[in-house]
Amino acid sequence: MARWWGLDLGTTNSSLAVWSDARSEAEMVDLGDVSRQMLLTESPVVPSAVYINPKDDFWTSLGRIPSIERRWLLGRQAYIGREAGDRNYEGRQPNYVESFKPLLAAAPTKVMTRVGGRAYTAREITRIFMRELVLQARRIGREKINALTMAVPVDSFETYRAELSAAAARLGIRGFQTVDEPVAAALGYGLNTERELTMLVFDFGGSTLDVAVVRTTGPGKAGTPAEVVAKQGLSLGGNNVDVWLVEHFARQINLNANLWRGTEWYQALLDSAQALKEDLFHREEASLSIGGRMGKELGFRDQQPTLSRDGLIEVLREHGLYADIERTIETLLTEAASRGIEPRDI
Ligand SMILES: Nc1ncnc2c1ncn2[C@@H]1O[C@H](COP(=O)(O)OP(=O)(O)OP(=O)(O)O)[C@@H](O)[C@H]1O
Ligand SMILES: [Mg+2]
Repeated sequence: MARWWGLDLGTTNSSLAVWSDARSEAEMVDLGDVSRQMLLTESPVVPSAVYINPKDDFWTSLGRIPSIERRWLLGRQAYIGREAGDRNYEGRQPNYVESFKPLLAAAPTKVMTRVGGRAYTAREITRIFMRELVLQARRIGREKINALTMAVPVDSFETYRAELSAAAARLGIRGFQTVDEPVAAALGYGLNTERELTMLVFDFGGSTLDVAVVRTTGPGKAGTPAEVVAKQGLSLGGNNVDVWLVEHFARQINLNANLWRGTEWYQALLDSAQALKEDLFHREEASLSIGGRMGKELGFRDQQPTLSRDGLIEVLREHGLYADIERTIETLLTEAASRGIEPRDI
């Protein structure tokens, strides 16, 4: 019997899970070379990145013929996840695309890159990412994905759901559903849906901050096992923090980070800032890794830029992150109260 799959398409990381009848719970799927291990949870995730194949081989060309594409998924149009990152080691290459999710929501037809005379929109990149993910799942488990639930941000519009649904249909997935990301998060934490429970879900991702009050409906109720009763979202996430860090380091050497934008180094800088930020999770101090030539061209002298955890907290405070979070939660609680749910109920 076909099994039910779940995909959380994230700005930075995506994860695939499959329902296990034996254990009555969803299991995260390790997709081998395209997956990497999350530091804290040790769960396998697929970095949301695509590296478009520079040249089609025979099977890939054949697989692009519409009448064939409708029936079979042939060849490989791109590398995804960890394999995409590995191929982009030299820095920013046109073949490499990441952070396509926010664009899929805001402007799906916007061209993200051009490779070999072909333009790739956010919609096309998403389709390719999902395609190669489905193919990889098949390579690893010899199983076809026929039924799929995808998580969507609470403030996403119908058009975003329609984009995902269309991409799934093109992959031959017949059973397609969506679930609100906070509900998926709550369920993922092993929430017992047999009991009525109200909780606050806080999800700080790569590009969005979503907070929601989620309530399990309890035993014997029809419909979904859990529902979002109040939600607030901000277009603010880890990607913004990386930009703030780059600006911080520019200021330290009396430069304006705008000078760096658009240079070949900018993406590498953001990646280094991201690594430094993640380092500070378990270290009091971390340094920005920049190569010799890169450092020189950017204007860093010999010094290795470093930042302490307190320094990071200060940067976050300067940009109003904590105030934004507080305000968002307050608004959420007001919204929940208008539906009869008080803070003590959570
Ligand atoms: N240990 C850590 N300390 C600080 N930040 C971290 C740590 N680990 C990951 N991050 C940051 O979390 C962000 C990614 O979070 P997550 O995987 O939840 O996002 P996502 O689901 O891909 O994005 P979204 O839900 O917004 O689409 C990145 O900005 C990453 O740098
Ligand atoms: Mg997420």
